[in-house]
Amino acid sequence: MLLLGGDYVFLGATQSRVKELNDLVNSVPADLKIAVLGNHDFWARPARLEVALSAAGTVILVNEALRLPPPHDDVGIAGLDDPFTSLDQGDFESRQHAVDEALEKIADAKVRIAVCHSPDGLLWVRGRGVHLLLSGHTHGGHIALPGHRPIFVPSPMGKRYPWGRHEVDGTTLFVSRGVGGSVVPFRTWAPPDVAVFDVC
Ligand SMILES: [Fe+2]
Repeated sequence: MLLLGGDYVFLGATQSRVKELNDLVNSVPADLKIAVLGNHDFWARPARLEVALSAAGTVILVNEALRLPPPHDDVGIAGLDDPFTSLDQGDFESRQHAVDEALEKIADAKVRIAVCHSPDGLLWVRGRGVHLLLSGHTHGGHIALPGHRPIFVPSPMGKRYPWGRHEVDGTTLFVSRGVGGSVVPFRTWAPPDVAVFDVC
């Protein structure tokens, strides 16, 4: 299973970037591909990106959830809207309601995994029985000091959890540093990462 955490483009979903995204996702031999969108996607052309991802066989979850097909149907995956931008610009309570409705669809799954572009998704899922929350957005600070200490992270939860694995209120939070970049064309003490999880 391939889980994609968003921010597929920076400064515009041009035709060439969209094609590159489609080619890259197509090249991954995963039986199931699931994606959420990030703030840069919503600032670009999310509909165009959704078409490209869908054409590569990806299911896009925006406050939606699904069960894996048998024999792994004991695993439920919920994809959250991006807390920063969001398709639905509602208040915190309405967003919480949308997330709760998604989580309800996998409430009887033995393993419940949530994916959100930003670790701020923790605000919506903490204490709600999610075993694993996967996120990114932070780049690990992008420009960090020795010891992987970020200088600035555009995310309240990301300031506390800029990268790596954390145990929070019964949920394992993993914050990927991701593979891309924005604004500054280099990274310091915040190397890219792609995480591989064995769920058992
Ligand atoms: Fe982001």
